[in-house]
Amino acid sequence: MRIVVGVSGASGIPYAVKLLENLGQNEVHLIISENAKKVMKYEMNQDPSYLSSLASYTYSDDDFTAPVSSGSFLFDAMVIVPCSISTLSKIAVGISDTLITRAAAVSIKERRRLIIVPREMPLSSIDLKNMLSLSENGVIIAPASPGFYNKPKSIDDLVSFVVSRILDLIGVKNELIKRWQD
Ligand SMILES: Cc1cc2nc3c(=O)[nH]c(=O)nc-3n(C[C@H](O)[C@H](O)[C@H](O)COP(=O)(O)O)c2cc1C
Repeated sequence: MRIVVGVSGASGIPYAVKLLENLGQNEVHLIISENAKKVMKYEMNQDPSYLSSLASYTYSDDDFTAPVSSGSFLFDAMVIVPCSISTLSKIAVGISDTLITRAAAVSIKERRRLIIVPREMPLSSIDLKNMLSLSENGVIIAPASPGFYNKPKSIDDLVSFVVSRILDLIGVKNELIKRWQD
């Protein structure tokens, strides 16, 4: 599969790292926002170059000449993880001033699978309305909200829970978690 992954400046960069680590067999086109690079420095002992090392292609968030900014470049799915409220809101109202928001707009207009993983709490009515608008346009809103029924023993277990659900939504087989009643 050809998958576009956008990483924006919300908390939760470990979700992006684990997702990329589990997309090995796929062609991954990665966009990292400048704010995501800053947040990664706070959250992880890894450099943004580690994210790029896991992708087939990496683009700057201001590179509108990148293939993923055109509807004529075919891809199977796009994931934005983690997705900041800023990026989510821009996509909801049709602003495409970054490569991540442009590729998301392409996904919506071309009726392709777009999975947005927001990380914020609490949510305002503005955020909830924007999420509803996106959902009504076929976007999958998959909050970074791990379950606890698997009795997680580590942060890695919690991250795996969310990433497993994202992989399921893309259609990538994975054994990251023990499934309910399996
Ligand atoms: C350490 C840190 C954590 C942040 N966490 C969040 C968050 O969880 N959710 C969010 O919507 N914004 C968060 N922000 C704010 C975003 O980075 C900010 O809104 C930025 O404009 C997002 O830009 P981008 O979406 O283009 O990456 C955080 C910022 C910093 C520095």
